[in-house]
Amino acid sequence: MKLTLTFVIILLFVDLLSAQTAMINHQSRHLTSLNGEWKVIIDPTDIGQWRQVWQERKPQKKTDFIEYSFEGGPELSVPGDFNSQRCDLTYTEGIVWNKKQFNYIAKSDKRLFLYFGAVNYLADVYLNGEKLGSHEGGFTPFQFEITGKVKDGANSLVVKVDNRRLKNGVPGLGYDWLNYGGITRDVALVETNNTYIDDYSIQLKKGSLDEVLGWVHLDGTQAGQAVEVKIPELNVDYKIRSDENGLAKVDLTADFQLWSPENPKLYQVIIKSETDSVADEIGFRSIEVDGSKVLLNKKPIFLKAVNIHEENPYKAARAYSEVDAKILLNAAKELGCNLVRLAHYPHAENMVKEAEKMGIMVWDEIPVYQHIEFSDSLVPAKMETMMKEMVRRDKNRCGVVIWSLSNETYPGTPNRNEALIELTQKCRALDSTRLIVHVINTQSYNNNTFNVWDPLYNYSDLIALNEYIGWYIPWQGKPSETKWKIAWPDKPVFISEFGGGALYGSDGPGDEAGQWSEDYQKQIYMDQTTMFSTVPNLCGVCPWILFDYRSLGRMNQVYQKGYNRKGLISEHGEKKKAWYIMNEYYKTK
Ligand code: GCU
Repeated sequence: MKLTLTFVIILLFVDLLSAQTAMINHQSRHLTSLNGEWKVIIDPTDIGQWRQVWQERKPQKKTDFIEYSFEGGPELSVPGDFNSQRCDLTYTEGIVWNKKQFNYIAKSDKRLFLYFGAVNYLADVYLNGEKLGSHEGGFTPFQFEITGKVKDGANSLVVKVDNRRLKNGVPGLGYDWLNYGGITRDVALVETNNTYIDDYSIQLKKGSLDEVLGWVHLDGTQAGQAVEVKIPELNVDYKIRSDENGLAKVDLTADFQLWSPENPKLYQVIIKSETDSVADEIGFRSIEVDGSKVLLNKKPIFLKAVNIHEENPYKAARAYSEVDAKILLNAAKELGCNLVRLAHYPHAENMVKEAEKMGIMVWDEIPVYQHIEFSDSLVPAKMETMMKEMVRRDKNRCGVVIWSLSNETYPGTPNRNEALIELTQKCRALDSTRLIVHVINTQSYNNNTFNVWDPLYNYSDLIALNEYIGWYIPWQGKPSETKWKIAWPDKPVFISEFGGGALYGSDGPGDEAGQWSEDYQKQIYMDQTTMFSTVPNLCGVCPWILFDYRSLGRMNQVYQKGYNRKGLISEHGEKKKAWYIMNEYYKTK
């Protein structure tokens, strides 16, 4: 009895100190950016925890020796990963303490929130020496309410960032991208009235082209209020009342110009209550599966996709800005894409919003990647939190058409099926208007025949599979004669990864087109695009990957040099020969 009580108290304490789910659309709020130069203490041994550096103690008397200080130390830019900012942090997976001083005058009729776009991986947050709480997960937003905690005048914010890998982390210990650590996205103070609009969902009802089925949620003491949803361009002024829980249901009909890659139409939508108002740019489209077809706005569409990691190739740094997003998305557009798979974690909101503006559909994914400890009791909750944070942030982005909940996990891993099936059901309960998928690579390939089977496909809207025939696995016959056994004959099939590596400009070893040469990669793409015509119900393909990107496990020092070289474009923006094969293929679609 005593034990369980202690356990409950610990859980409560942890829960009390967990970060809050973030308000949505923070950019259109009354905010003060805390971006800029932050002072840091680099702490490879984590001794700062024992020294309690967040206390920022100063010597009181001659014999006081304080063996830490932010003063005199280096500064890092926020947002920004720390690995690419200092060469002594290039390969760091460890702890960096970050400090930002800000001035503020509290207002009695206002609330104040501290908003983080993302911190990789663990963040412990302190204000004026007091712990606000922690957040785990490197790619989704979180916040803390600091009303009543902030002081008039100077305030000191300290964030302990720890990007060390965790066995029961999401992702776990092994992944094929550089583990950029730091405060990688915006930090801001957001001031609101005592009751504010913290969340809303304004999207078309599943299968409808003109009916919005959504809601608006108010957070605060004045839960019951008059609420309006306005779409001025369509003369929509929908009036409702929120209930005692602050929830106002929305059910309105309008004659929308539907969002599509050809016509990425967005409407200004204003959500007003008696005590708050938020504006957003929202598009309206329907996405669904009809038998073996993917329908956008009731018309079949072929998903011309490409995988992208959140890295600015020219800076060799974690991407976060609109400029970074434009670099990556313009390259995807030039290749001929109408969809980008943001691998393998939710990218910055800038990226998702920019894609939507450019008419590029988005595949959003959480980093449930390969080796996940599904049987660890904490893992299901971590996955669920990341899924909920992703859906909460991006559910009003009509560009987002697919939620991807895992990549290349192994059916044999204990509790994998149960945990991922439960996660899928929770995601579908949150949002049934988008496609939900799991990406699998456990199909067999024998005698030039794929045999595609995984229990998760029963819960997925697409058969999404990764295959590297021609690279990790040699062809066992003519690509044009490839055979397929797929246990779901009516589901659309999506090749979510394929390709091979090449160093731009390299002819590879030996005289004929050797591995790592552009010609070798080109041949893989010619064979793959030939093979695609054999795939039943093919609804789209997605090359791995748009740009060469950093991955420390790639240690061939002649051809890889710390880069995954499967890009169609080098990190210097040079198009490889395979790029032209893919571009030509997309012109036929
Ligand atoms: C996998 C995986 C990618 C990885 C790629 C590769 O399929 O999903 O994250 O980078 O293969 O091996 O290059």
